[in-house]
Amino acid sequence: MFGPKTQTLQQRAQKVIPLGVNSNFRFWGEGVTPYVEKSKGVEMSPAIDMVRMTCSGTEATMHAIRVARAFTGRDLIVKFEGNYHGMHDHVLWSTYSPVESYGNRRSPIAVPASSGIPKAMREFIITLPFNDFEGFERVMKSYGEQIAAVITEPCQGNCAAINPQEGFLQLIRQRTEEHGCLFILDEVKTGFRIANGGAQEYYGLMPDLVTYAKALGNGYPVAAFGGKREIMSIIGQGVSQGGTYTNNKPGIAGAYATLSLLKSKPVLKTIEKRGQRLMDGLREIFEENDIPAVFTGYPAMFSFSLNIDSVTSQREWAKSDHDLYLKIAEKAIARGVMPDFDPREPWFLCYEHSDADIDETLNVYAEAVKEVKK
Ligand SMILES: Cc1ncc(COP(=O)(O)O)c(C=O)c1O
Repeated sequence: MFGPKTQTLQQRAQKVIPLGVNSNFRFWGEGVTPYVEKSKGVEMSPAIDMVRMTCSGTEATMHAIRVARAFTGRDLIVKFEGNYHGMHDHVLWSTYSPVESYGNRRSPIAVPASSGIPKAMREFIITLPFNDFEGFERVMKSYGEQIAAVITEPCQGNCAAINPQEGFLQLIRQRTEEHGCLFILDEVKTGFRIANGGAQEYYGLMPDLVTYAKALGNGYPVAAFGGKREIMSIIGQGVSQGGTYTNNKPGIAGAYATLSLLKSKPVLKTIEKRGQRLMDGLREIFEENDIPAVFTGYPAMFSFSLNIDSVTSQREWAKSDHDLYLKIAEKAIARGVMPDFDPREPWFLCYEHSDADIDETLNVYAEAVKEVKK
């Protein structure tokens, strides 16, 4: 989020590193830590009453899922194809696999993304295409009473930042509530990025549990999950969560400094303005060169898919022109502008990206697209 020149984070972390990275006290509830103070309330984490720290997004979603299972007394988890929630066996299904392996969208096959995941884990997961209103309704009707949680990224941060269609996240909220399942919103990519209050603020959503990592620590090893008091308070009451470094001080210091900076000046508004200019400029370049391009995501994290008219799920995105995307990226890299080489990965803007950087990127992309079209 902030570039290498930002000193505040380093200074705060350096101050605490000599004390060791471990900490004995727990970061619980109101008023206990500056982190909780900073994050609580409508502005930064609207849905969170209580928060627990972890070291990575993987741990955050893993623990959120355990808490959801413990709270509901159920085992099943629903996740959406193309979403990534970390490396653990509970959710590493139908993430990057070729979509041809996912079967028919009416009865999707959950595909493990790694060897080593026990076959038995498939019993606990239901996968669905993102934005599939009808499929979601069908699953909730058939399995609603057995589902512990529906977990989703607000947009597909791991698949071209595909946006939720209007009403999709609200439908998840409504049906989970009706069936007594929890709604876990994975804000590892959107949290403290698309708005100070993340997708919760952006969409006015109140999920039961929320997970954070990435922008929370701005490069420092820290992540978190939190949610409603009634749910989070079962931790420690026969429900386990913890770890040697789960409250590591440099990470907490990084989070504290990041959240303080976000609150102190219009960081995300600035990023949004520059990101919008970049999106608009790229859109114009593709139009001028007669290349159909679908833009998805938000100015602070966006993506574009080429030679396609609509992208609402990974199955559609897979039909876009990845070769063309990569050819253009190669030409841009040769000219000194380096996007992520994986077209699934959105473009993430940082506060250090200046207006001049946006101009340079647009100039380079204008040349690169022209050259590829020749
Ligand atoms: C949405 C989402 N959730 C969870 C994770 C896992 O986070 P970590 O890499 O910190 O384990 C990621 C990582 O990219 C992510 O994008």
